[in-house]
Amino acid sequence: MAKLRNLISIHDLDRKMIDHILDTAAKMESVAVKRSKELDSKIMAVLFFEPSTRTRLSFESAMLRLGGSVLGFAEAGTSSAGGKGETLADTIRTVERYSDIIVMRHSLDGSARVAAEFSSIPIVNAGSGSEEHPTQALLDLYSIKKMKGKIDGLSISLCGDLKYGRTVHSLGMGLSHYDVSIRLAAPPSLRMKPTIIRAMKKAGVDVVEVESVEDAIKDADVVYMTRIQKERFPDVREYNKVKGLFRITSDEIKLMKEDTTILHPLPRVDELDSAIDNTPQAKYFDQVYNGVILRMAILKLILG
Ligand code: CP
Repeated sequence: MAKLRNLISIHDLDRKMIDHILDTAAKMESVAVKRSKELDSKIMAVLFFEPSTRTRLSFESAMLRLGGSVLGFAEAGTSSAGGKGETLADTIRTVERYSDIIVMRHSLDGSARVAAEFSSIPIVNAGSGSEEHPTQALLDLYSIKKMKGKIDGLSISLCGDLKYGRTVHSLGMGLSHYDVSIRLAAPPSLRMKPTIIRAMKKAGVDVVEVESVEDAIKDADVVYMTRIQKERFPDVREYNKVKGLFRITSDEIKLMKEDTTILHPLPRVDELDSAIDNTPQAKYFDQVYNGVILRMAILKLILG
């Protein structure tokens, strides 16, 4: 098995590597509880130029459970990049001298790959613009496998903001390595990019676009809901036209199979009514914990 050096894009991973990461994550379940000193000589830098709760804190929790140390910043404004205009290249060339791995979130598409070009230490993409969120896609795949016992053979619906939502771009490509059927449900202005649909079809996935949440959830094994990404709309009036259109409430739960699994990368706004949180289908807070497990696997495979 080739060693994992950076984790920039889901496009860089083949099925063998994805399965290896998911298998390593399964082995991390017990380590996460017992804790380990495996990475006790390692330092992880977290450079978050955009807000985050889950990705940053789950990476930190993962590193601490493996005995490593953590430094970094949680908003660009407190760094010289935000406050004084330092370039990304100079930030990376500085932080690589303080740490063994850099986990970075940035608002620009392509930023993680640029960082990797300037870095002598591994870079992990924790979200780049509206383009990619590969570790989220891997934790989503891990969640599906853990909760459903398999990925192959499932009917999976991706719903909500498929244009600006970076998690669905990475997850769609990750799922294309498996024998799945995918339904895409989004408001007309927020449909999945044709390039991604073409790539999924080329990989042999049965992909169809549907127009409503109702059409997406009927008979689905997994419903992956996403937030409308208000912060990425160039014009707030366009956001106002689509907000609140795609929602799962108690009415939609009645249309689902009892063993449908609802996932969401979180944070949510109103697309998952809190009234459904205690239904058997709602698994999005269990999914959150899998972020720690999967990120332990990433850190172990890169640094171990
Ligand atoms: N899912 C996700 O990326 O959440 P955060 O923005 O809180 O990190």
